[in-house]
Amino acid sequence: MVVAERKILSIVSDKPYFINGNFVLYLGDCLNILSQLPDNSIDMIFADPPYNLSNGGFSVHAGRMVSVNKGIWDISRGFLDDYEFHYRWLEACKRVLKPHGTLWVSGTYHSIYQCGHALQSLGYHILNDISWFKPNASPNLSCRFFTASHETIIWARKEKKAKHVFNYDLMKNGDWTEDKLKKPNLQMRSVWSVNPPKPEEKKYGKHPTQKPLDLLRRIVLSSTNKGDVVLDPFAGSSTTGIASALNDRKFIGIDMEKDYLELSKKRFNDLKI
Ligand SMILES: C[S@@+](CC[C@H](N)C(=O)[O-])C[C@H]1O[C@@H](n2cnc3c(N)ncnc32)[C@H](O)[C@@H]1O
Repeated sequence: MVVAERKILSIVSDKPYFINGNFVLYLGDCLNILSQLPDNSIDMIFADPPYNLSNGGFSVHAGRMVSVNKGIWDISRGFLDDYEFHYRWLEACKRVLKPHGTLWVSGTYHSIYQCGHALQSLGYHILNDISWFKPNASPNLSCRFFTASHETIIWARKEKKAKHVFNYDLMKNGDWTEDKLKKPNLQMRSVWSVNPPKPEEKKYGKHPTQKPLDLLRRIVLSSTNKGDVVLDPFAGSSTTGIASALNDRKFIGIDMEKDYLELSKKRFNDLKI
């Protein structure tokens, strides 16, 4: 690894919570950690921010009624405060992205329109909005509206005129057999059918909103090259980091909950790489 790249991984004045080779975790508020990173230093950002949907409601999981509350970090602080939060972290991410860099942000209707508005206000150039279809989504309890069975993932470029990375051939011709909607050797479309995390992805404990490794594998492989620096400001159990490490990308993860970084460490230490 060249010296400049090593510096990016550990340049912030806060001590890393964990570092092993090209995999670095920081404990803290992402706005604080991002402010310590240099301009134009990151190739790709995947962000799975709070969806602000922990409102005391209920859903069904494995045939049982369960609370939708994910944690204090997911409680809405009201429309304007939630919007300001999304605007501020997206602004901080834009500064650290390289000019050709891209950012992915996931959400449901509770948050994704706010993120989309903030992205456009900040001058990002939207490339796609992916619909992540969940084949076995939980049923709707009230039976008064449709069963929510997808999340939206917006993909945007920092600068309108830059040339971003898109590994077109791999998306078209790669092995995506886990996705029942992807036809072999045809272009990858913007609706992806991906199952929830497999039991082995949760063997060290589960994060309440853990993303499937198959989803992050596709995101990392589509929009980065080997050796690129990937950042996740809301790392949680570091699914983004695991997909990055397995595919020879460098990773910087940030989360403000120590328990989630402990889970991330266990997942990383279990990798056979
Ligand atoms: C939706 S979860 C991410 C889950 C992750 N994608 C995974 O696969 O495990 C959002 C995470 O953001 C963290 N978080 C919320 N606000 C934060 C902030 N201001 N700075 C850093 N982390 C934050 C929470 O602790 C939570 O783990």
